[in-house]
Amino acid sequence: MSYSYPYSETSDIKFSCTFEFYFSCMPTIKENVSLKAFNTFGIEANAKYFTSISTVQDVEEISHSIVEPGSKFLFLGGGSNILLTGDFDGYIIHVENAGIEKVSENEDFVRVKAAAGVNWHEFVMWCVDQGWGGLENLSLIPGNVGSSPIQNIGAYGVEMKDCFESLEAYDLETRQWVIMSKEACRFGYRDSVFKQELKGKILIWSVSFKLSKNPVVQMEYGAIQEELKSMGVTNAGIKEVSQAVCNIRRSKLPDPLETGNAGSFFKNPTLPAEKADFLKASYPGLVAYYLPEMKVKLAAGWLIEQCRWKGFRRGDAGVHQKQALVLVNYGTASGSEILELAEEIQQSVLEKFDVLLDMEVNII
Ligand code: FAD
Ligand code: EPU
Repeated sequence: MSYSYPYSETSDIKFSCTFEFYFSCMPTIKENVSLKAFNTFGIEANAKYFTSISTVQDVEEISHSIVEPGSKFLFLGGGSNILLTGDFDGYIIHVENAGIEKVSENEDFVRVKAAAGVNWHEFVMWCVDQGWGGLENLSLIPGNVGSSPIQNIGAYGVEMKDCFESLEAYDLETRQWVIMSKEACRFGYRDSVFKQELKGKILIWSVSFKLSKNPVVQMEYGAIQEELKSMGVTNAGIKEVSQAVCNIRRSKLPDPLETGNAGSFFKNPTLPAEKADFLKASYPGLVAYYLPEMKVKLAAGWLIEQCRWKGFRRGDAGVHQKQALVLVNYGTASGSEILELAEEIQQSVLEKFDVLLDMEVNII
C-alpha cells in the first residue's frame, strides 16, 4: 500500500477550477441516505445529504461548498463512537482516503503514516505483521485511523498518544492544510483538543506514528497475563499480546455486527483521592485505581452495576450483561431511547455515589 503526501496537489487545482469545472469535480452528494449501516449502534436515522471524500481535491472542494459558516456537517469514520438521536439535517461527510506508508526508519524506530480512512484494526495488524511494536494493545478497537486522535483511543494500558508523532489536517476556518504535533493535540484520557476548542473545525487526514523495531511488550494488565497463560504462551511478543487482547475483547464486549453498541458509553470518572477514600469506607468493593497527584480513577462499570443496571433492558435499549459500561441496541431502539436510558443511569449513579459520569460517546 502507498500513500501520497496530501499537500502535493493543493492550490494550483483550486485556482485553476472554473465555476463549471469546480462543480464537475465536486464529490457526489446523495440525498436522504439511511445511516443504519454507518453507525455501530445500528440506529435507523437518515442524513439529509451524504458524500464521501477520498482525495485532497475532494477536501478542498467541500471546503468551498458544504463546509461553510452556518452549514451543518459531520465527518464520519466507522461510526463506532456516535449516537444518532434523530435524522441528521445536514451533510454527512464520510472520510474514505486510503493508504499506509513507511516514512522513515533507523535501527530502532520506524515512522509510519496512515490515511484517516484506513480501518484502525487493519492498520494495527499491518504494524504487528511487520514486527513493529507499540499499538498491539489497541488491537480490535473499531473505527478508523482518522478518528483515533479525537478521543485518544486507549485499552489495556496503552493510549494512541504513546506512539503518536503528528497528524495532517485541514483547518476548515483558515482553509489551510496544517501539521499538528502531539503537544498541539493536547491528548488526555479519552480527550484531545478535537473534543474541545477545535471540535468540528478540523478534518484529520492522516496520522503518523513512531513504532519500535525492538518492541517491549506491555503486559501490566492482569487480564493479558491470564489470557497469555491460558493460550500456553510463555515468551510473548507483540503478535501474542495482540492475539490475547483480541481474545479478551471478544469475550467481554458485544460484537456490533450482532448487537448494536459504541463500546463504553461513559468515561471512567477521576476523583480526588480523598473523595474516593470516603466512598471506599461505605463501599469496600469500590473498584479504584490510584493515579499520581492524589487522583483516583473509578471503574464506571462497577458503579453502574451497583445501581442494578447490568443486564437491564427496556424495549430494545439495554445495558450489556457482561459489561455495564456498554449500552446496547438489541434491534430497533432509537437513539433517543438509548440516550434516555443513559441519562437515567447517570442520574442514579449521581444519587447513590455523588459521582457524575461523563458520556464518552458523541451524541449527534
Ligand atoms: P466515528 O464514530 O465515525 O466518529 C467519532 C467522532 O470523530 C465524531 O465526532 C466524528 O465527527 C469525528 N471524526 C471522525 N473522523 C474524523 C476525521 N477524519 N476528522 C475529524 N473528525 C473526525 N474506544 C477506545 O478508546 N477504546 C476501546 O477499547 C474501545 N472499544 C470499543 C469497542 C466497541 C465494541 C466499540 C463499538 C467501540 C469501542 N471504542 C473504543 C470506541 C471507538 O471505537 C473509538 O472511539 C474509535 O476511535 C471511533 O472511530 P470511528 O472511526 O468509528 O469514529
Ligand atoms: N466492572 C464491574 N462491572 C462491570 C464492568 C466492569 O464491576 O459491569 C469492574 C470490574 O472490577 C473490572 C473493572 O470494572 O475489573 C474494569 O473493567 P474492564 O477491564 O472491562 O475495563 P473498563 O474500565 O470498564 C476500560 C475502557 C475500555 C477499554 C478497557 C480495557 C473506558 C471508558 N473504557 O473499560 O474502552 O477497552 O478499559 O482497557 O476507559 C471504550 O472506550 O469504548 C472502551 C471499550
